[in-house]
Amino acid sequence: MTQPSTWEQILDYSNRANPYPFYDELRKTPVTRLADGSYLVSTYAEIAALLHDPRVSSDIDRNPAAAAAGATGDGEGGPGMSPTFLSMDPPDHDRFRRMTMRHFGPPTTPARVAGMEARMTDIVTDLIDKMTAPGRIDVVDDLAYPLPVTVICELLGVPPGDEQRFRVWVDVALQSTDPGLDPETQQEKRAEAGRELRAFMEELVDAHRRAPGNDLLSAMAADDGPEGRMPDDQLVSTGLLLLIAGHETTVNLISNGALTLLRHPAELQRLRSNPDLVIPLVEELLRYEPPVHFVPFRTALDDIDIAGTTIPAGASLTLVLAAGNRDPAHVADPDLFIPDRPNNQHLGFGGGVHLCFGAPLARLEAQIALTAFATRLENPRLVSDPPPYRPSPFLRGPSHLPIDIDGIAGA
Ligand code: HEM
Repeated sequence: MTQPSTWEQILDYSNRANPYPFYDELRKTPVTRLADGSYLVSTYAEIAALLHDPRVSSDIDRNPAAAAAGATGDGEGGPGMSPTFLSMDPPDHDRFRRMTMRHFGPPTTPARVAGMEARMTDIVTDLIDKMTAPGRIDVVDDLAYPLPVTVICELLGVPPGDEQRFRVWVDVALQSTDPGLDPETQQEKRAEAGRELRAFMEELVDAHRRAPGNDLLSAMAADDGPEGRMPDDQLVSTGLLLLIAGHETTVNLISNGALTLLRHPAELQRLRSNPDLVIPLVEELLRYEPPVHFVPFRTALDDIDIAGTTIPAGASLTLVLAAGNRDPAHVADPDLFIPDRPNNQHLGFGGGVHLCFGAPLARLEAQIALTAFATRLENPRLVSDPPPYRPSPFLRGPSHLPIDIDGIAGA
């Protein structure tokens, strides 16, 4: 029997619950060349350097591995979809990111995220009030999913009932490996879901232009800012990027957080008695159990000498953020969850020009959800450890997290 390749081990579902021993092996060769000529980078210093290196491109159309996987040509969002700033390089990346940020954060719109704090608290209060106690709840379905999806819909201006429509398409569009389907059927299903999502967002942009609200899509659709108006195809792709990136990742941060707290009862107790601990605790979670395990499809634009290896111009790179986060050369005792460790710098939000756009929103949601989880749920206990995981090796988190509780404290 041949040994599974490194990439096969990353995709292997049996590693999903605990990929960290495999990452320990991977870090022994900081820059690993795979059989297809692409490279995996797994150590903190090297990942951080490449995230900031202008010789590393995010342009998906330049990437040989993306082309082989059928992910180029139509943009990262599916057929007919323009690529978003996530998969562009400066200066286009910077321009479209600035045009979007104008309506999301400081200096132009400082209140968009901060102004939602009270609403987020209300959503979490309602979700917890609805739980049955004593009894069994599912942290994913009852808290970790509905909070970020409601928040991003309200922020963008997506009507509440529409979540039912896009949830299925998003699931299919994100499915990286469905063992039940052959690759062609998979690609066709992804393409179909991409078309549905695009039509859905086009309709929304039109509706917001006709009747603007106080939301991000309306603001972007009407803006003739200093850099002009964002073309419609770009607006549709960016709306979808924000909708999807805006909840799929945060769901995992909240459920990974609840799971980690239940595995560390002393930390759960500390958070219960000192809710201020939540701020460093969420940063430590982004290091210890990050929702995004790697960024794929980066391309070397030139030969790059790094950690004794030359990555040749044109090669594809995958940066394994989750392995870098547990690099003992970066943090002491990397496999321990220590919320107030002196150095909790992490790669959970990536780095460099593509550093996560939504980080302030994700942090606030996770802080509010985990504080309420710790202070309101009485005697929470895991039903199974490990819980079942979602298939994706890249957006990693439990598909369900059933727990038993004895009661619910008042908000
Ligand atoms: C815990 C939650 C989140 C995590 C772990 C996360 C992680 C990341 C990472 C690792 C990147 C870098 C990707 C790369 O370098 O190619 C990124 C970029 C991005 N994220 Fe997030 N994200 C989260 C939440 C959000 C939210 C709530 C939003 C939207 C409101 C968002 C929007 C984006 C966008 C638009 C980019 C592209 C930035 C650019 O290319 O300049 N993310 N995120």
